[in-house]
Amino acid sequence: MSSVTDPRQPRPALRISEGTSALATKPVSPKIKMATRQLYKSYQKGSFGIPVLQGIDLEIYEGEFLAIVGSSGCGKSTLLHLLGTLDRPDAGEVHFDGYRIDNLPSASRDLLRNKHFGMIFQFYHLLPELTAMENVLAPALIAESTLSYWLRRGEHHRRAVELMELVGISHRVKHKPRELSGGEMQRAAIARALLNKPRVLLADEPTGNLDRSTGKQIMKILGELNQREKLTIVMVTHDPWIAEQADRTVRLVEGRIQGV
Ligand SMILES: Nc1ncnc2c1ncn2[C@@H]1O[C@H](COP(=O)(O)OP(=O)(O)OP(=O)(O)O)[C@@H](O)[C@H]1O
Ligand SMILES: [Mg+2]
Repeated sequence: MSSVTDPRQPRPALRISEGTSALATKPVSPKIKMATRQLYKSYQKGSFGIPVLQGIDLEIYEGEFLAIVGSSGCGKSTLLHLLGTLDRPDAGEVHFDGYRIDNLPSASRDLLRNKHFGMIFQFYHLLPELTAMENVLAPALIAESTLSYWLRRGEHHRRAVELMELVGISHRVKHKPRELSGGEMQRAAIARALLNKPRVLLADEPTGNLDRSTGKQIMKILGELNQREKLTIVMVTHDPWIAEQADRTVRLVEGRIQGV
């Protein structure tokens, strides 16, 4: 596997703005955690190909909190899905910790996602038949054999409760997704993404359905995870105030990255 880590890479500029003083003082490691090289993706509509990503070169630094912005339909979710190996590019490469990951067999990509990536989807993707707590626990169930899960069930349960408290939905553990509000589903999806202690959090509009005050709380939680646990965060957002909370913002325009 090829390496893309280049110690000569410049450090990303830190954004200093109101309300981000804690983040702004953080030293950002120059180590590249994830990178894309000339990433292309288009979708087929009948006999037409709709080009979405047209040569994305992006480097994401370890411990960085990166925001991706851009107009609706410009390909932000598509890019996040490619970073998370949920989909494959037509051309180009995705790297994680210096290893190429876009061409791994699907079982290895599943493992990588489960062990190293936490994903918050724009439309949550909670399983409708499971309660909020069971949805949060799902990554542990997937990661382990039935026996191992059973032996560690107390530990998993405690972590799930802790995370549900963190995102403020501990009073909704037994609710099914259809019995939750949009914001509560979003918060359950955030807790689920954090269950397996990922090294990279890929968050698609994590505050998209929350009011400003709840959105602020979620951003505070993400900021603390980024600072305290050195969690690398890649967050897609429409909201300029939310993007301001990140270390760095890049914009997706006409299939390419601006502002790196
Ligand atoms: N499975 C698909 N099949 C065909 N076209 C698709 C598919 N998924 C996405 N697209 C198209 O690709 C483009 C990019 O979609 P994407 O969801 O990545 O945009 P986005 O930037 O996340 O938008 P939003 O801000 O509205 O969430 C859109 O024009 C969309 O219609
Ligand atoms: Mg989207």
